[in-house]
Parts: sequence; C-alpha cells; structure tokens
Amino acid sequence: MTAIILDGRAIAKRIQQEVAADIARMKNKYGRVPGLAAVIVGADPASQMYVQMKRNRCAEVGMESFLHELPASATQGELEGLIAALNADPRVDGILVQLPIPDHIDEEAALKAIDLSKDVDGFHPINVGRLTMKGRDPLYLPATPYGCMYLLHEAEKLVEGFQIEGSRAVVLGRSNIVGMPMALLLIHANATVTVVHSRTKDIPSLVGEADIVIGAMGRPEMIKGEWFKEGAVAIDVATVKVDDPTAKKGYVWKGDFEYDKAAERVAAITPVPGGVGPMTIAMLLKNTLTSAQRSINV
Ligand code: GUN
Repeated sequence: MTAIILDGRAIAKRIQQEVAADIARMKNKYGRVPGLAAVIVGADPASQMYVQMKRNRCAEVGMESFLHELPASATQGELEGLIAALNADPRVDGILVQLPIPDHIDEEAALKAIDLSKDVDGFHPINVGRLTMKGRDPLYLPATPYGCMYLLHEAEKLVEGFQIEGSRAVVLGRSNIVGMPMALLLIHANATVTVVHSRTKDIPSLVGEADIVIGAMGRPEMIKGEWFKEGAVAIDVATVKVDDPTAKKGYVWKGDFEYDKAAERVAAITPVPGGVGPMTIAMLLKNTLTSAQRSINV
C-alpha cells in the first residue's frame, strides 16, 4: 500500500485563502480587520520562531498582529497587566501567550486572565472545562488538535472506508496543548480513544490495533513503521530537530513516526514538516477571524 500524503501545507493554504477573503469583506464592510496579539515571556528561540511564523501568516491574510516580548524576569503582575491591556484593546481580537512560560509564573492564572472572548488558543480554564463535557462547546478549540481533526476529516474524504466515528484511536502523549485536548476531540467525534504515555505497557500492540494514530510525544521515530495497522491514518504532530551531518543544513526534522516504513503500511500519513505544523497556524487564524466576526455580530 502506498499512503496518501495529507499535505498540511496545501490544506492550510486553502484555509488561509478563505480567511483572507473573509477579512477583505470585513474590511470593506466594517472598515476593520481582525488583530492577533502574541505574548512571549523570555527569549526562547523556538517560541520566537513559532510566533514569527504566526505573524508572517497573519500578514499574508491581511490580519493585524501585535508582538509583546516580556523579559524572563517578568512578574505575574506585569504579565497579567499586559493581558488586561490587550483585553481592553478593541484592535485585538485574539490573545495568545506562547507556552512554555518561565516556571515562576502561574500559567493557569495567566491564561485565566485572558478575556474568554479573545482566548483564540482555547487554553482558558473555562474553555478547557467546556471541552471536557458533553454538549458544552468551548468558544475556541486549541489550534493544534483542531488542525489534526481537520486533517482527519480530509482523510475521511480521501481514504475509502475510513470514518472517525466508530474507529479506534491511539493518542501518543498527554500534554495540555495537544494530547489531552486531542483525546477529548476524538471522543466527541465518537472514536474510541486510548491515551499512551510514559508508563504505558506494550505500546506496539496498542498502535497495532488503532485506525487512527496521533503522535504527540516529541520522541523522534519512536513509533516503528511495522507497528501500524494496515490502512490506518497516521497524524504526526511532533517536529523535532535532529542532528544529521549528511543533511545540507546539518539537521533534519523528525516526527514520532518512522515515516518511510509507516508510509508503506498506512492509508494516509502527514509529512514532517509540512503536515500538522501549518494547520496549527491556519486554525489559529480561523479562530481569530471568528472572534472578530463575533465582536461585530457577523
Ligand atoms: N506552544 C506550543 N504550541 C503552542 C500553541 O499552540 N499555543 C501556544 N500559546 N503555545 C504553544
């Protein structure tokens, strides 16, 4: 079997074109565009790179973006003061506090300070709580799991006989940002979900039973190609830089899956990079547009 490649770059581009068209209409009709504020605490190079990528995509779709960089020594009060100012700023429809933040800051309190209507990352405790319950829709879904669900719905169109509902799903990892919300979204979509973590026994046999496998551990190629069930759909969230002296740049990006061998067995798979990564940004833009539309009641 040769796997269908779930091309996140192309799908994200399509979503961004739709977002851009809606923004152009909003600008024409209401004289304003959505705005996204990104807050970084400390100078983590990975966070700076992710936020820059988000701001570049904002510019491409005609969305305003505002960058606020606080030093690693910033206090809880300074961060929450900045969040309060962004809550009050009518140009800002979405606020994202790039995680992780330094240990001395209470992350939950900071996320709780974000106005619920501007919580486009979906990490406010109320939005997280709503996600855990049946029939209590969060205002926004966290961007990465939302992007994975979008890719799974694409797979439903592309892979004959594949349906999320009724399938067996394995989520590898239980982080607040990806694994946990991903498992919840799959349950809401009527999949039967197993969450695999560092204490799980016999991971190969669990992966071997799964129709859907979500890799969100950040452990390069830990999940071997031969473990996958034939015809499964494989979504790899992990993107880890691995030294490789034979590569032009001296490194390559790897996901949790042993990609080449997995691609020989599964029905569909996301590439790394170019799979989930671009989808995350597209969903964040979509959430920010939704926030702006809600604020002007369109
Ligand atoms: N850190 C890693 N992924 C994310 C994300 O989706 N949102 C935020 N705010 N921080 C992150």
